Amino acid sequence: MRSVFSRLLTAACALAGTAAAVETLEVLGKDFVNSKTQERFQIIGVDYQPGGSSGFSTSADPLSNATACLRDAALMQRLGINTVRVYNLYPLLDHSECASIFNAAGIYLLLDVNSPLTNGSLDRTDPSGTYDVAYFHQVFGIIESFKNFPNILGFFSGNEVINQDSVYEVPAYIRAVQRDMKDYIAKNVNRTIPVGYSAADVEDMLMDTVNYLSCNLTNSTESRSDFFGLNDYSWCGNSSYTTSGYDTLVEDFANASLPAFFSEYGCNTVQPRYFTEVQALYGKDMIQSFSGGLVYEWTEESNDYGLVQLNDNGTVTLLVDYEHLRTQYDAIDLTLITESNSTQTSVEAVDCAADLISGDDFLNAFDLPARPSGVQDLIDNGYTKASVATMVAVTSTTIPETVYDASGAVITGIALKVEASDESNEPGGNTSGSTSSSDSSSSSSGSSTGTATGSAASSTKSGAADKLSTSAMLGGLLGALVATVATL
Ligand SMILES: *[C@@H]1O[C@H](CO)[C@@H](O)[C@H](O)[C@H]1NC(C)=O
Ligand SMILES: *[C@@H]1O[C@H](CO)[C@@H](O)[C@H](O)[C@H]1NC(C)=O
Ligand SMILES: *[C@@H]1O[C@H](CO)[C@@H](O)[C@H](O)[C@H]1NC(C)=O
Ligand SMILES: *[C@@H]1O[C@H](CO)[C@@H](O)[C@H](O)[C@H]1NC(C)=O
Ligand SMILES: *[C@@H]1O[C@H](CO)[C@@H](O)[C@H](O)[C@H]1NC(C)=O
Ligand SMILES: *[C@@H]1O[C@H](CO)[C@@H](O)[C@H](O)[C@H]1NC(C)=O
Ligand SMILES: *[C@@H]1O[C@H](CO)[C@@H](O)[C@H](O)[C@H]1NC(C)=O
Ligand SMILES: *[C@@H]1O[C@H](CO)[C@@H](O)[C@H](O)[C@H]1NC(C)=O
Ligand SMILES: *[C@@H]1O[C@H](CO)[C@@H](O)[C@H](O)[C@H]1NC(C)=O
Ligand SMILES: *[C@@H]1O[C@H](CO)[C@@H](O)[C@H](O)[C@H]1NC(C)=O
Repeated sequence: MRSVFSRLLTAACALAGTAAAVETLEVLGKDFVNSKTQERFQIIGVDYQPGGSSGFSTSADPLSNATACLRDAALMQRLGINTVRVYNLYPLLDHSECASIFNAAGIYLLLDVNSPLTNGSLDRTDPSGTYDVAYFHQVFGIIESFKNFPNILGFFSGNEVINQDSVYEVPAYIRAVQRDMKDYIAKNVNRTIPVGYSAADVEDMLMDTVNYLSCNLTNSTESRSDFFGLNDYSWCGNSSYTTSGYDTLVEDFANASLPAFFSEYGCNTVQPRYFTEVQALYGKDMIQSFSGGLVYEWTEESNDYGLVQLNDNGTVTLLVDYEHLRTQYDAIDLTLITESNSTQTSVEAVDCAADLISGDDFLNAFDLPARPSGVQDLIDNGYTKASVATMVAVTSTTIPETVYDASGAVITGIALKVEASDESNEPGGNTSGSTSSSDSSSSSSGSSTGTATGSAASSTKSGAADKLSTSAMLGGLLGALVATVATL
């Protein structure tokens, strides 16, 4: 067991912005695992696209503004998440600060490589006309921009490209894009970053999609999906495991050979949302089939799925759904969901064959389109126009914005906790922030020793913060360490 001193030292170093980094994750059989500890990793996440499609342009995307990222990462940490999914990004913007902030917060990023701009995605009605080198400037550009960060959990090759409107050949194009992405990563990135797909909830196409993308194509093994996301809104209000149809999904995915998770969930037809599905999703009936999920979505937009409201006057309101979700996350049994299971991690993919596909309208052939001209050259030589993000020290941790709870009371003291190296965020920590009316549950060591020291103190897990608050001597030691490291 690590000593309190070493924990303090780690926290102090992390605070000073030295190379604190989350451990990379990898896919083993049908689980995500921590590449160092081999502990299982389940996604506890939210979808993040402030402003929706209008929040995206060639001059601003969700990971280009450090002020906004710091605010959101601090509030997400308090919520208890470990992953965000971001849909639309632009490769030429500088993502260094935001990627570093989420890394420091212990939050992984799952990134879509497509964008709504011209040449930014595959057209489901015209895949052969849009599968070209111009499209790969976007795809490889996103990989380039984020490739150096340990907190990249994976890249989505596509979102809901296969649906009722897509032409017959689309599934082969998805596999081709994944082949090209994985070949690019193998040649230009120093680790294997997983690549997968996010599916629409179209019931009669779902299992054909899973089978098509997850089978092992022996003449193109790299075209296989490494993970599978499902956008699912079937649990509305206080539904149940059987009424929602989650039980059927669990059976469907029991034999899947890759990690599956909800890439969007959180039906809003009954308001407010209590997120009672969280206990099902992270409970023992579901964890063999699913690796968690991402709640749609972080900010309140016109479609009314938000957890937080960004007010016009620059303040933030944590909506009642945020508090309900936080309560549900706090009740997750973390020991259960991180337990490794060799049955799960040793699952192998079946070989691709036409009889894996049951729908008459679903492609059942596996001859993939050839690489478009110019793409091999990008793979061999790298795409050099992207802005490649690099790790920067996260030194500023307090957020200037006023934050209100759902009742309108001001929450004070919210700050980003820089996680110790290798640590990811998890629910139930004693995180920052309190309202004057409530019994403050946050450690008093923060306010008495200044904000920076306070956030370091509360960033240490497993009881270190408690020991701190009961020991003035140790508190002083931390302060001294911070001072020492800060002057180095
Ligand atoms: C960055 O985000 C903050 C907070 O939302 C906002 O005030 C600021 O204008 C944004 N900066 C840019 C350059 O868009
Ligand atoms: C889209 O790609 C085509 C080539 O396939 C190119 O001629 C055109 O300029 C591109 N448009 C944009 C907006 O990048
Ligand atoms: C890969 O490169 C990144 C960024 O330079 C570095 O931090 C990381 O340690 C490297 N990983 C491996 C496995 O070499
Ligand atoms: C739904 O569940 C929540 C959380 O358990 C509970 O507080 C709420 O009263 C329930 N609502 C209904 C309509 O049953
Ligand atoms: C999963 O595999 C088991 C054992 O091979 C088999 O009995 C079962 O029918 C399969 N389930 C599905 C949904 O394919
Ligand atoms: C900012 O706007 C919110 C939402 O309209 C409001 O509740 C809050 O009182 C405003 N705060 C300030 C300081 O004006
Ligand atoms: C391991 O996973 C298998 C199914 O993948 C399940 O049947 C078994 O109960 C799990 N073992 C434990 C100890 O949870
Ligand atoms: C796919 O098949 C190849 C060749 O038989 C094998 O080496 C590889 O491990 C298989 N991949 C998976 C994911 O099962
Ligand atoms: C690869 O294998 C699949 C399935 O066996 C087959 O349909 C396809 O034609 C093969 N492709 C090539 C290029 O040989
Ligand atoms: C949070 O802090 C309070 C007060 O220090 C303590 O009673 C409580 O057990 C802590 N909760 C957790 C989850 O650590």
